[in-house]
Amino acid sequence: MNNSTRPFADIYPEIGTGPVSTAPAVDPAFFEREREKIFRKMWVNMILREEDLPNPGDYFVRDIEVLDASVIVVRGDDGKLRALHNVCTHRGNRLVRDESGSCNGFQCDFHGWVFNNQGELAFVTDEQRFHHLDKPSLGLAKVHLDTWRGFIFVNFEETPSQSLEASMADFNQDLKPFPFENMVLAGRYRYETNANWKTTMNAFQESYHAAFVHKRSVRQCLEDDGDPYLASQRIKLQPNGNQSISVHLPPHDLTPTEMIAYGMGATFTQGGDGNVNSFPGTAQAQIENWAFDLNIMFPFSRINVGAGWYYVDAFWPVAHDRTVYELAFYFPMPTSAGAMISQEYSKIVLRDLSREDLFTNEVTHNALRSGAIKSIQLSDQEIAVRHQYEKVTEFCR
Ligand code: FES
Ligand SMILES: [Fe+2]
Repeated sequence: MNNSTRPFADIYPEIGTGPVSTAPAVDPAFFEREREKIFRKMWVNMILREEDLPNPGDYFVRDIEVLDASVIVVRGDDGKLRALHNVCTHRGNRLVRDESGSCNGFQCDFHGWVFNNQGELAFVTDEQRFHHLDKPSLGLAKVHLDTWRGFIFVNFEETPSQSLEASMADFNQDLKPFPFENMVLAGRYRYETNANWKTTMNAFQESYHAAFVHKRSVRQCLEDDGDPYLASQRIKLQPNGNQSISVHLPPHDLTPTEMIAYGMGATFTQGGDGNVNSFPGTAQAQIENWAFDLNIMFPFSRINVGAGWYYVDAFWPVAHDRTVYELAFYFPMPTSAGAMISQEYSKIVLRDLSREDLFTNEVTHNALRSGAIKSIQLSDQEIAVRHQYEKVTEFCR
């Protein structure tokens, strides 16, 4: 055996090398176990940052379908961020119907009860006709909220079994020094797909597919005969399910658009063609022709960092055969027209790459549902997919 072509099986022998059952991707009963044993216990990345809610009263509402929950993330008059169930404590009406805003409080549109922006019950209409209202205990139900480097997470467990800090530890690099706060939201994409969340996400967990799936959008990056499948140099897998995959791109002949874009800022396809910036918090120093790092926070969200950009995404499970893929991308505030052109190029490349990555999901999901194959075969380069199935199965036991 030539270990250099299959290095990761040696690093992680406990993960095995055999075929992997398709049942976790197609079985509705397995999805129900994931819901209770994984999704209800995880720190949920809200794809929001603290600076999205700078002032008291600022709020966002996020529906988390897989948990049948709707959450209000709000900054109270006391300056504190809170996550509150979006459920009126009178008779359970959905309290806030819009997606975001700023207010002193929230009034229910069923009978007019009012909650302040700290979640306390502030006013009850026609209160004298109630019998024994214990108003202090009738504030909006709380959800745990914590932040990590400005990112907002919530947790639905009564007492979270793992701290957010522990959940975010130990990727291919120490992610903490990355200058997240120096970048601003440049856009969001959202896709719905009729496929299991793992099948959807698996297309984003290896580079093996790039030579085929991405040959239309970034063919120029895939023509190195010595490295046609972009074999990863560094993949780190953690016992809690987290993963980190560093992606490299060999030097290549630049397209005319790349020549313009590279001259004016960092882009997604730069890799071995020289990174204009060196960012702390990346694995740049450890990887030849490094392009970016995928940092996967188990089970389904990621904080992916490059030299001059980052994006945060999540593969939201909705049902065993439905997933919403959402991503938000961030760049330094552009200070010139050239920087804007470079960023626009990155936005379009990211859009095209993510659409290509989603291209196989639905047909693959349907094919797996047919039962024609009962297992999938995974190469050493697909060890992150194998690890994910192993962890999901372990936590669902
Ligand atoms: S359900 Fe909200 S005031 Fe009645
Ligand atoms: Fe891809």
